[in-house]
Amino acid sequence: MPDPIILGLESSCDDTAAAVLRGREILSSVVMGQTELHAAFGGVVPEIAARAHAEKLDLAVEEALSQAGVTLREVDAVAVTAGPGLIGGVLSGVMLAKGLAAGLGKPLIGVNHLAGHALTPRLTDGLAYPYLMLLVSGGHCQFLTVRGPQDFTRLGGTIDDAPGEAFDKTARLLGLPQPGGPSVEAEAKSGDERRFRFPRPLLDREGCDLSFSGLKTALLRMRDALVAEQGGLHAQDRADLCAGFQAAVRDVLAEKTRRALALYLDEAPAEPAFAIAGGVAANGAIRAALETLCAERGVRFTAPPLRLCTDNAAMIAYAGGELFAAGETADMTLAARPRWPL
Ligand code: KG4
Ligand code: ZN
Repeated sequence: MPDPIILGLESSCDDTAAAVLRGREILSSVVMGQTELHAAFGGVVPEIAARAHAEKLDLAVEEALSQAGVTLREVDAVAVTAGPGLIGGVLSGVMLAKGLAAGLGKPLIGVNHLAGHALTPRLTDGLAYPYLMLLVSGGHCQFLTVRGPQDFTRLGGTIDDAPGEAFDKTARLLGLPQPGGPSVEAEAKSGDERRFRFPRPLLDREGCDLSFSGLKTALLRMRDALVAEQGGLHAQDRADLCAGFQAAVRDVLAEKTRRALALYLDEAPAEPAFAIAGGVAANGAIRAALETLCAERGVRFTAPPLRLCTDNAAMIAYAGGELFAAGETADMTLAARPRWPL
């Protein structure tokens, strides 16, 4: 039997997305962002997001079907993000998915948005269960052992800021453009990471939890001291601060990844693999450090392409496909959940 065709919908934050997958084959993946709608407010406004999702979701579905060359009748199941997220957007997605599934007489599948992110390395690289995953973005930072489409173990995570947030804050404090990650990384290339001594938060504490808020406080203090001393920042100061900051994030992520790998390898997985996902995975210095760690331990290193790490519906359709194969379908009582821990 050929792999079923799954239509996926995603509307839990500020991206309206639809995708069509056949097994691991992405026939289409449409993402309609809302950045310009929220730009003036300095953050995502739930009310505006909900209205935009309601307006755009059916367009995204139409576009995804048309790009895939698939008609609605050919869809075997409809998968939708049922949480966690902004309730208005999640509701729009769940209601449309229910309507489509009922109208077509096809199964409905409720997908946890975080499970979508966590299963992405199976979609892109075909990783076998169990694998270790580090999710690092502007909003997330956690280690997960992924054992199945509904089976995750959280080994640790940030107790305050996400690393991407810290990169963005650093850029802001140094007058560099947003998003901060790429600008800080570019500056760091011509900097000396040893000139400023940044802390390595939480390394003295056992386990895999992380903390990044102390780094931006340290940076603020160093910047203010330089400004007080010399009346401003020189280009080299900026580069050295970026290099020192990035090295601290790299070292903390590397040490905690080393610990997470040890816990994971204790279980003697048959095909040991590690995946890093999220915007911060784009950082060359961080990636290189983690890649080296994995190579030393004989663990396969993977990093899904960025367009599949940021919010999209291909990951929802893929996770929906795994749930479908496991017989985990929903019915018309499927609820939209603002909170839904893995
Ligand atoms: O996964 P993502 O696109 O979405 C959200 O979390 O919303 O992550 C975005 C974050 C931003 O904070 C951005 O500064 C960071 O990823 N980022 C980077 C780099 N490229 C993007 N951080 C460090 N180095 C980079 N090269
Ligand atoms: Zn997400």
